[in-house]
Amino acid sequence: MTTTPPAPCAPEDVRRVACIGAGVIGGGWVAHFLARGYDVTAWDPAPDAEEKLRRLVAAAWPALEQLGLAEGASQDRLTVTATLAEAVADAQFVQESAPEKLELKRSLLAELDAATPPGVVIASSTSGYPMTDMQTEAADPGRLVVGHPFNPPYLIPLVEVVGGERTAADAVAWSSRFYDVAGKSVITMDRELPGFIANRLQEALWREALHMVANGEATVKDIDDSITEGPGLRWAFMGPCLTFALAGGEGGMGHMLDHFGPSLKSPWTRLEAPELDRELRDAMVDGCEEAAGERTYADLVAERDQGVIDVLRATGRLGGTAR
Ligand SMILES: NC(=O)c1ccc[n+]([C@@H]2O[C@H](COP(=O)([O-])OP(=O)(O)OC[C@H]3O[C@@H](n4cnc5c(N)ncnc54)[C@H](O)[C@@H]3O)[C@@H](O)[C@H]2O)c1
Repeated sequence: MTTTPPAPCAPEDVRRVACIGAGVIGGGWVAHFLARGYDVTAWDPAPDAEEKLRRLVAAAWPALEQLGLAEGASQDRLTVTATLAEAVADAQFVQESAPEKLELKRSLLAELDAATPPGVVIASSTSGYPMTDMQTEAADPGRLVVGHPFNPPYLIPLVEVVGGERTAADAVAWSSRFYDVAGKSVITMDRELPGFIANRLQEALWREALHMVANGEATVKDIDDSITEGPGLRWAFMGPCLTFALAGGEGGMGHMLDHFGPSLKSPWTRLEAPELDRELRDAMVDGCEEAAGERTYADLVAERDQGVIDVLRATGRLGGTAR
């Protein structure tokens, strides 16, 4: 049995992680950390949280086995606690994944700060709130960082790390290193930006998708096919900038911008998001239900997980098994 070093410890020495909030993302983090061989404690106030969490982890496990489990990794190393305080009492790192509500995040991060051993880093999975806005009530805001994952955290490598105005630089550096050791692909940002990097990009695309559905210009299926049959195939291994540089031939990005520059502006006609009214909401929901057809949520999760694994394997990016 490994001895747990006292917290706080070096990122390489972390053995016990606490996950607070165990829905889609918190549950995904639990699966990731278990697969990487950590002891995980989890807490979520929902009455059926433990059963849902264990179901999520069990459903993710076949994919994680394909990726390669760390030595000693086991679903049995998950403990679901009755209280938040028990979950974080011995934690060496805390990942918060509660609902995306600013007031809730503020008070929860303060509560976590009060209950977690001094010096242990607490990261929030927030999709867009700057830590500066969330760390206002904590007694020790210096240890609070954003660690923004992508769904599902057990398969998509990226995590964006950024601190707030009152976060200690050491906490940002510590968490970036920790996520790296824990098998994530880390982008450390040196300043706050609502939505960080990837969500700003995703949401620019999403805004345009909503406009096209709202105006009847394209169906949900057309939009999804346009990405999976088109640019999405390139994006799995080469980002949009380098991809566009190749569109300029041997002249690269310079030729691309000089040649296509004026016409590139023509689709930039709608930079505001459309009103998310009931009609648009229902059109999106109906379109997605039609696209899913007979496939259940569990079917789609399994299909997505296998697809991500196939892409990771095809592009030579299947993670190592040891952390
Ligand atoms: N869903 C995504 O694709 C995605 C991606 C990246 C980041 N995130 C972020 O992750 C966080 C969680 O989102 P989600 O999609 O997992 O939501 P979710 O609704 O699936 O899960 C939220 C969980 O938090 C629990 N909860 C409610 N009140 C709580 C409290 N006071 N303390 C602790 N837990 C509480 C709920 O019972 C629920 O299980 C949000 O900050 C979200 O922005 C989501």
